[in-house]
Amino acid sequence: MSMRVPFHDLSAVNPPLREAFHRALDRVIDAGEYQLGAELVGFQDDCARRVGTRHAIGVQSGTAALVLALRALRIGPGDEVITPANMDISVPAAPRLVGATLRWADVGLTSHTLEATAVEGAITPRTRAVIVPHAYGFVADLDAMEAICRPRGIAIIEDACLAFGSRHRGRVVGSIGDVGCFSFGPYKPLGGLANGGLVTTNDDGLYRVVRMLRGYGRLDPERVATPAERETLRFEEEGLNLKLDNLTAAFLRVKLAYAEAWIERKRAIGEMYMQGLRDAGVGMPSILPGSDPVPWKMPIRVPDRERVLSDLEARGVQASLLYIPPMHRQPVYVRAGLNVAALANTDCLGAETLCLPVNPTMTDDDVRTVCDAVREAVAKTGA
Ligand SMILES: Cc1ncc(COP(=O)(O)O)c(C=O)c1O
Repeated sequence: MSMRVPFHDLSAVNPPLREAFHRALDRVIDAGEYQLGAELVGFQDDCARRVGTRHAIGVQSGTAALVLALRALRIGPGDEVITPANMDISVPAAPRLVGATLRWADVGLTSHTLEATAVEGAITPRTRAVIVPHAYGFVADLDAMEAICRPRGIAIIEDACLAFGSRHRGRVVGSIGDVGCFSFGPYKPLGGLANGGLVTTNDDGLYRVVRMLRGYGRLDPERVATPAERETLRFEEEGLNLKLDNLTAAFLRVKLAYAEAWIERKRAIGEMYMQGLRDAGVGMPSILPGSDPVPWKMPIRVPDRERVLSDLEARGVQASLLYIPPMHRQPVYVRAGLNVAALANTDCLGAETLCLPVNPTMTDDDVRTVCDAVREAVAKTGA
């Protein structure tokens, strides 16, 4: 069934850029640079400037970014990492993939992001890092995380995979923690034509190690000018092949040119939802004071979610359930026997949250259509 307001809008966003994508492909073929190359370097530089960090390293996905960030922080067996359970599986999987122990912490019922008290309660002498996702683009309480983590020497890994362009106190997310991780998967806020990701940091040491580990364990020759210099490159340790491809970076640069306009549009749509659904009997996300979020999707809490979902669909509005059931209820983590008792808010959000579309091609009329449909669907539940 064709939807009046689809959940994603790639079929409206990408085809008009076809010519620019073709020119990007031609540039890569003409340059003959298929791996590390000028497109990747240019994209990394653009991203570092935009995020406001000294360094940005293109990698294959958001998952790769998280794993490489942890490895660069030298986190592994015997160490503990705290994460929430209401996001993508890569968030809790990354610590376990590097051999660390996972500790869950609960999220706020309106913020959808990590709660300071929950993080504090999960800290042990072995805690080395907290992965802090900016859920659906809404900024997590970084001030509180810094107050907790800095004195204890615990690293903050900002997961900005859904939050490209969101700001906190004027700074772009991904530049505030020790490391920032981004995803450019096709459906992400800056969605490529293939998978992609980015690690951002101001730390020269972390930069060097991430660059090395994304390229088999040898400092990549991307910025090395001469063949003689290349000769000096040696394998320092065992890495993986997790580089962002030059072609993928070239396509991403095409889209990066539109990022600011799309960010503005998504902010405006977010504000329209906040206004339009006030007093509609739904739980709207709270906005951290001092933050300027760019919603990726709009998470709302509704009574009788299944019924609301199907009512919306009947009106041509495609909403979606994301990260459900929450990760601590997924078989892999149930089998791991992790403590889930303290995740009451996560369970509650998992039972009641649905996500509304926030896409740059949506018109004001589309947003009003969604708001009207939500109001009517919720009213029918009698809640
Ligand atoms: C919060 C969050 N972190 C990490 C990822 C992983 O990104 P990727 O799919 O590029 O590996 C996702 C993907 O959905 C995500 O939503």
